[in-house]
Amino acid sequence: MKRPSKIRLGVNIDHVATLRQVRGGTTSYPDLMHFALEAVRGGAEQITIHLREDRRHIQLADLQLLAKKRPVALNLEMAASEEMLRFAKKYRPDWVCLVPEKRQELTTEGGLDVVKGAKRMSPMIEKLQRIGIEISMFIEPSREQVLASYEVGADAVEFHTGHWVLLKGDKKKREWKRLCEAAKLAHHLGLGVHAGHGLDPEHTRKIRALPELREVNIGHFLVCDALNEGLRKSVRRLKDVLEGK
Ligand code: PXP
Repeated sequence: MKRPSKIRLGVNIDHVATLRQVRGGTTSYPDLMHFALEAVRGGAEQITIHLREDRRHIQLADLQLLAKKRPVALNLEMAASEEMLRFAKKYRPDWVCLVPEKRQELTTEGGLDVVKGAKRMSPMIEKLQRIGIEISMFIEPSREQVLASYEVGADAVEFHTGHWVLLKGDKKKREWKRLCEAAKLAHHLGLGVHAGHGLDPEHTRKIRALPELREVNIGHFLVCDALNEGLRKSVRRLKDVLEGK
């Protein structure tokens, strides 16, 4: 039997920064680098961050520090803008994942429209690849978007799994079929197959069956689960302080 190839785990630590930024960055905790290293100790092969235009979580200083220390590969999710291109050229992450970005959205709600943006994205991708950065496109699992990603010269596609995760019944089955077909096409064209968004343990188990999957990027569940696992101990610590221990 053919052994399934290894799936790389990218841990997205944006929401560690979200918790810091709700106090405007005035606290020294949570320490992003500490959590990046904890993720690596747990087995993360990549650290993923999204430097958003509105800087709601990750700040430029975080990118600077992670790029310098780089305990494992660094994957920078970013909008295809001139400002972000400058940062990527300066800090040289191992991967850039191009994502769509709207200021009002709660999270990255849909995939990138590579068909529409091809003219603008192609030269950007070329400039980044010339300095050794690999490029993935965060897209919906559609034939058109996979073909356009190939046309613009990307190295990989990351399929947006967020809708599939939320769907139920027949609609979920149809979306899974769409994901599988898009993954096969991407692989056939020589593109790496990545996936991410909304993955929890149940869907992470299922996504392993996606043809040719090489990488997943997971954030929100992991940060929430870390809170679940740790709060009792943290409360105990402060109770001890209150009790003069
Ligand atoms: N991949 C991409 C391109 C994303 O934009 C995000 C969300 O920032 C993720 C993966 C991780 O999604 P989640 O936080 O839901 O696990």
